[in-house]
Amino acid sequence: MSTATAIRATGLRKSFGDVEVLRGVDFDVERGTVFALLGSNGAGKTTVIRILSTLLRADAGTASVDGLDVAADAPGVREAISLTGQFAAVDEILTGRENLVLVAKLRHLADPGTIADELLSRFALTDAGARRTGTYSGGMRRRLDIAMSLIGDPPVIFLDEPTTGLDPEARLEVWRTVKALAGRGTTVLLTTQYLEEAEHLADRIAILHGGSIIADGTLAELTALLPPAKVEYVQKQPTLEEVFLAIIGSPREEAA
Ligand SMILES: Nc1ncnc2c1ncn2[C@@H]1O[C@H](COP(=O)(O)OP(=O)(O)O)[C@@H](O)[C@H]1O
Ligand SMILES: [Mg+2]
Repeated sequence: MSTATAIRATGLRKSFGDVEVLRGVDFDVERGTVFALLGSNGAGKTTVIRILSTLLRADAGTASVDGLDVAADAPGVREAISLTGQFAAVDEILTGRENLVLVAKLRHLADPGTIADELLSRFALTDAGARRTGTYSGGMRRRLDIAMSLIGDPPVIFLDEPTTGLDPEARLEVWRTVKALAGRGTTVLLTTQYLEEAEHLADRIAILHGGSIIADGTLAELTALLPPAKVEYVQKQPTLEEVFLAIIGSPREEAA
C-alpha cells in the first residue's frame, strides 16, 4: 500500500442475518484528504465506518487504516482514529471545557486544561466553554463533539453523518470545521446522505448503493460521467444530484 494511502477497503462484505448489506466494497482514501461516502438511508454507510473503526468484523475482505489492518491490529487502529457518530457524545451536565478536559484525562494526556483551551479557541467556543453544554445549539454541540474527537491528534477521523439533523446554519458551521481539519493534514472520512455536503466538502466522493461502490471520483470526474445538457447556447454541467440519479435512478435491479 502506498504511504499516501490512509484508508483502504478491499472487497468488504457484511450480512446481518439474511440481509447482505455490503457485497464487496472497495475504496482508497489518500492521506490529508476529505472522502465522502455518499448513500441513502440504509445503504450501509455506518456499517462501513464500524468495520473501519474495529467495532464490527467484516464477513470477508480486508481493510486498513493508517497502514494497520483492522482485523489483525485493532488496538493500533483505535489509537490512530477517532469516531464521531451521528448522535453527539457530549455530556450535557458538564461545561464545554469540562467535557474536553475529561476526554484529555481519559487519554492520559499531559496538561488537559491547555488542550481544552486550545480546542475551544480553535472551534470558536471560548466564550461558551464555561457554560453547560445542555444550553448549546445543535451546531455548537456538534463542533464540541468534533473537538473532543480531535484530542490526542488522531491522523484519521471518521464522521458519521456529521450534519444530519442540524439546521442549515449549524450545517455551515460544521462544514467550516471539517474544511479546517483537512487544511491541517488530517484525513477525514465522512458519510452523508446529502449530495450538497459531499459536493461542498469532499476531495473525492464514493457512492455506496446496492452494497457496493458504484461510482468513485472527484466531483469533476463524477460530473464528467454525464454529458453536459445543452440548453440553447448555454452549456450546463450536470450537478452531482443529476449524476447520482442517473446512476442509481434507472430501475436497476439489485441482485436480491
Ligand atoms: N446490527 C445490525 N443488525 C441487523 N441489521 C443491521 C445492523 N446494523 C445495520 N443493519 C442493517 O443494515 C443496513 C445498513 O445499515 P447502516 O449501515 O446503518 O446504513 P446507513 O448508515 O447507510 O444508513 C440497514 O438495512 C440496517 O437495518
Ligand atoms: Mg448511518
